[in-house]
Amino acid sequence: MAVSKQASCPFDHNGIDYAKNWPEINSDLRRLDGLGWSEAHGGFWIAARYDDVSTIARDGTHFSQERGSENGKPTLGAFIPTTPVGLVPIETDPPVQSEIRRRLNPAFTIKVAMRWKPAIRRIADTMIDRIIEKGSADLVKDVTKPIPAIVNFQSLGIPLEGWEEAIDSPGVLTYADPASPEFAAALAAVERTKQNIIRAVQERHARPRADLLTVISQLNIDGRPIDQELVVNLVQALVSGGNGTTTGLMSHSLHWLGNHPEDRARLAAGPELIPGAVEEFLRYFSPVQTMARHAVEPTCIAGTTVSRGQRVLMNWAAANRDAEVFPDPDRVIIDRKRNRHLAFGIGSHHCIGFNVARVMAQTTIEAVLARMPDYIVDNEHTVYMAQIPVVNGVRSLPATFTPGPSIGASIPREDEYPQLPQSVLDAIAAGTGGDDASESIDLSESEIAAR
Ligand code: HEM
Repeated sequence: MAVSKQASCPFDHNGIDYAKNWPEINSDLRRLDGLGWSEAHGGFWIAARYDDVSTIARDGTHFSQERGSENGKPTLGAFIPTTPVGLVPIETDPPVQSEIRRRLNPAFTIKVAMRWKPAIRRIADTMIDRIIEKGSADLVKDVTKPIPAIVNFQSLGIPLEGWEEAIDSPGVLTYADPASPEFAAALAAVERTKQNIIRAVQERHARPRADLLTVISQLNIDGRPIDQELVVNLVQALVSGGNGTTTGLMSHSLHWLGNHPEDRARLAAGPELIPGAVEEFLRYFSPVQTMARHAVEPTCIAGTTVSRGQRVLMNWAAANRDAEVFPDPDRVIIDRKRNRHLAFGIGSHHCIGFNVARVMAQTTIEAVLARMPDYIVDNEHTVYMAQIPVVNGVRSLPATFTPGPSIGASIPREDEYPQLPQSVLDAIAAGTGGDDASESIDLSESEIAAR
């Protein structure tokens, strides 16, 4: 008879201690016999080994990430603790999730992402122009935060106004105490963003364009036009999923390179090494640390029985440092071979924005290394996020560098951004994007994985 293995541990991924010591805590979790069990947030299992995390993420039969409700309050979903605002499609199961992915995948291919590369470089150059003559900057505030915001807002087709609160507030809801003023302010900001999105959607209904927002507002789910609540939650997921994560990746990468000038010089001299290095930064820092599922049927993972309704935290960050899969996992090896990290997840919910996130990170690092290759980070005044239950980022990254000339770059005008090509709009209309995330993992990813 199978004996259910469980190891109770004082683990809270939302704790200050986890934010400070996550690599060590995750290493202890990987050594547990079976899954770990935490009493925090109503109790949940923890999967930390690569095999266990990827098995759960791929298993849509036994596990769900759909939100529920109890006494009018939201429960379950993809985050522990449950957040007040639901994100789509992250917190939905098929058929809603698969239908949305089938329609939207064509808009997120590497080909579409690469069409944005010149605009991303221009935005990066504009941000660098604003600081280059001064010789000092906060690389988060001045570079890594605005770039994904401008790219994501422009590619969706929503006004840039209010971008800072739109990207910060959903993250606050994942970690702040629900009774705190910080939480209330974030909730109010999410509501304001919602109103901005609703206005933009209404405008698209009146005047359709070749942009993502028009596509989303015209989606059909289960044969019926998508309802407004779903549109807003989907756009909010793209905004919050695409910004803090990419900012976190780029900030950690620049911080690490600032402290490892030999590797930085290698990348500056050989920019073709940057894509591989970005994969290694994704693995090493895991900008998204965890996501959750709950069992819809009892199931056994690593000898532990997960009962129906119990929640499981998938610790991507722990899986990404599993020595069974990654030799020398606690070391950054910028040209690591076969880097099959789980930083973008795996299975049907695999990140939809992975191509554009990679292009943004690669292009921004290229621009920084080309124009300010000798930057020195101020480690003493670098501020990391104090809580990292989901997004692992850096709040402030002060740096100094040799001043250089402005090149007169400017943020592209609205009509200078690439539009979605007709072939993509046709694929979206026909729903031929495939409902399996592996179909969205195109050549670039296979190539990178094979290195
Ligand atoms: C470094 C940057 C990024 C990281 C590390 C990241 C990470 C992830 C992970 C781990 C998941 C899997 C969730 C799960 O299995 O439950 C995910 C899903 C998702 N991501 Fe990303 N992401 C990034 C950038 C982006 C961008 C740029 C966008 C949008 C443009 C985006 C939008 C989404 C959406 C909508 C989902 C849900 C997909 C689904 O449920 O089918 N992400 N992301």
